[in-house]
Amino acid sequence: MNPKIWLSSPHMGTNEFKNVKEAFDTNWIAPLGPHVDGFERDLADFLGEGVHVAALSSGTAALHLALIMLGVKAGDEVICQSMTFSASANPIAYQGATPVFVDSEDRTWNMSPDLLELAIQDRLRNGKKPKAIIVVHLYGMPAEMDRIMAIADRHEIPVVEDAAEALGSFFKGQKLGTFGAMSILSFNGNKIITTSGGGALVSNNEAYIKQARFLATQARDAAPHYQHSHIGYNYRMSNVCAAIGRGQMDVLLERVQQRRANYSFYQETLAVIPAIQFSEEPNGDYYSNRWLSTVLVDDSQGVSREDIRLALEQENIESRPLWKPMHLQPVFANAPYYGNGTSERLFDQGLCLPSGSNMTDEERERVVSCIKACFAR
Ligand SMILES: Cc1ncc(COP(=O)(O)O)c(C=O)c1O
Repeated sequence: MNPKIWLSSPHMGTNEFKNVKEAFDTNWIAPLGPHVDGFERDLADFLGEGVHVAALSSGTAALHLALIMLGVKAGDEVICQSMTFSASANPIAYQGATPVFVDSEDRTWNMSPDLLELAIQDRLRNGKKPKAIIVVHLYGMPAEMDRIMAIADRHEIPVVEDAAEALGSFFKGQKLGTFGAMSILSFNGNKIITTSGGGALVSNNEAYIKQARFLATQARDAAPHYQHSHIGYNYRMSNVCAAIGRGQMDVLLERVQQRRANYSFYQETLAVIPAIQFSEEPNGDYYSNRWLSTVLVDDSQGVSREDIRLALEQENIESRPLWKPMHLQPVFANAPYYGNGTSERLFDQGLCLPSGSNMTDEERERVVSCIKACFAR
């Protein structure tokens, strides 16, 4: 059996272990510590736009806190991109609110501004103003942020930007994760940089970030004893995880280049197969970190997305269908949905190819020759 090629595995640089050792040497193993402060500073410096950052235990925790701080409560509605991972939508349910799913547009595979407008108008007609809009930058590709922000501003609905997959991407020169009233990042093991597990909340409103740190550490009031006036959470990042994160920030830009090189390699080598279509950046306004290289497979040539996935699996190569849209998930079967069929088509035809920044030339060649062999049969 050939060695395994993973979809997206952690890729450490040279400073991560040194930082972790330093945390051990100084006994900063407890949840908070200097690396947490340092990681937050590193992220804020990288993102720019005057943002503040709270390092948290996961991207999901960050989204949950964002919705809490926006006052999302039982019975409220929150608009959410349908084409995404369930973690974008689950925190809506944690709050007892209802997700209202909006379909994607063809160019970016992210939330369609036209359908967003339609959904807001329809919810308003039904007598309920959505409390927030969760827009996602799938696989690192920026959503059409200028139009989405304009619609949200006109209706005075705050945007929560799910940039879990998009650290290092930008739209019109502005880093993703800095557009929303609040934005979230993920440092889960498969992301472009990882802290083993972790996430962050980002905002240029410092009050949100201070409140997030307070809620994430069990909402302790200022008192020598344990005093609580709010429900709290245990959502903070540990100093050991932040030590890894600081080392990963040193190599972030390199990782973006490596992932973009994977995409270019696949695009060039698979150009001979017209049934395979790539997710191009629509124009110079869009810069994707290419967290995952994704393709659509037109099965009219006799080879389907699933044929390719199974052939890769036979060769010990991991690939995955694109996210299954939330409006098709049994757990959200009763949620309102505004769609045009785009996300369903993407799910039917889409495949994520191995995209690790640590892939070797030989591994990338193995992926491509396996895919080519599917079409040669
Ligand atoms: C789009 C999206 N949103 C949210 C999350 C949640 O992040 P985490 O796994 O850090 O909770 C992820 C990744 O896991 C994701 O891909």
